[in-house]
Amino acid sequence: MRRLRRKKNNLSAAELDEMRAACQLAAETLMMVGEHIKPGMTTDEINTLVHDYTLAHDAYPAPLNYGGTRDRVPFPKSVCTSVNECVCHGIPGPYVLKDGDIVNVDVTSLLPAKDGFFGDTSATFYVGEPTPVAKHLVEVTRECLEIGIAQVRPGARVGDIGHAIQQHAESKGCSVVREYTGHGIHRVFHDEPSIHHYGRPGTGAVLKRGMIFTIEPMINLGRKEIVHLDDGWTVLTRDRSLSAQFEHTVLVTRSGVEVLTRRPGLLKNCEDVPWARLGPLSSAIGPAPSSEDEARSSA
Ligand code: MF3
Ligand code: CO
Ligand code: CO
Repeated sequence: MRRLRRKKNNLSAAELDEMRAACQLAAETLMMVGEHIKPGMTTDEINTLVHDYTLAHDAYPAPLNYGGTRDRVPFPKSVCTSVNECVCHGIPGPYVLKDGDIVNVDVTSLLPAKDGFFGDTSATFYVGEPTPVAKHLVEVTRECLEIGIAQVRPGARVGDIGHAIQQHAESKGCSVVREYTGHGIHRVFHDEPSIHHYGRPGTGAVLKRGMIFTIEPMINLGRKEIVHLDDGWTVLTRDRSLSAQFEHTVLVTRSGVEVLTRRPGLLKNCEDVPWARLGPLSSAIGPAPSSEDEARSSA
């Protein structure tokens, strides 16, 4: 019998193209930010860059006013800027970036601004010249994301992603933050499944063609534990060691993965070496998906 309804979790071909557009806007925004990162600028200036660029592209910066509850104010800015020992959810403000700092900029674009799709991507940038330990951490974290992405294909398990990331991070003397995960994303910012960045292979939900989620490992140079500031958002490492993060939004395709937030080139002030070491795993400059790779036809 002919199936009249597609599986409820899969986007139509047209919706998938809208999702791709949201993700590409987020990727372009991150590239734009990279061009502007320099010592002496404030994190508020990063916020203004992201806010203005997003509105100019008919999108809405998803962090702005997101996530208010009875116990927590909504996020007050348009992007997260997490400096040095800040693990995630740093609030842009008057802090002046100095030479040697690292700053994660986490962009989420809602396109179109009303009733649109979310694209979510982040990178950790170097402010001026990185210290050797900062460079080590940032490179390991970027590798963790790439290695996690390389696990994605139909039939793989969520635990395969987490295991690969944890194994790499710990083999390089770093630790994986446990409290925050990747997430399903589409017309909803944060949905099922949760993508843990640690775990055991062959465990957890089975990945299926058409699933869309983020992978966004937060990796610490020291211990894995975190603390929260009383602003309701800012997360720091408990031992105040450096923390880095990279994030992509990915689609499970028939033969593997399409990195929806892949970039057309290298980020400035971040990817100073071509990401050739991981060859075809690279999501920075990876090839566009081949037509047989695409999850367009959902029938
Ligand atoms: N972009 C973050 C993520 O990767 C979420 C930020 S929520 C905010 O899931 F409110 F802090 F912006
Ligand atoms: Co995310
Ligand atoms: Co994000």
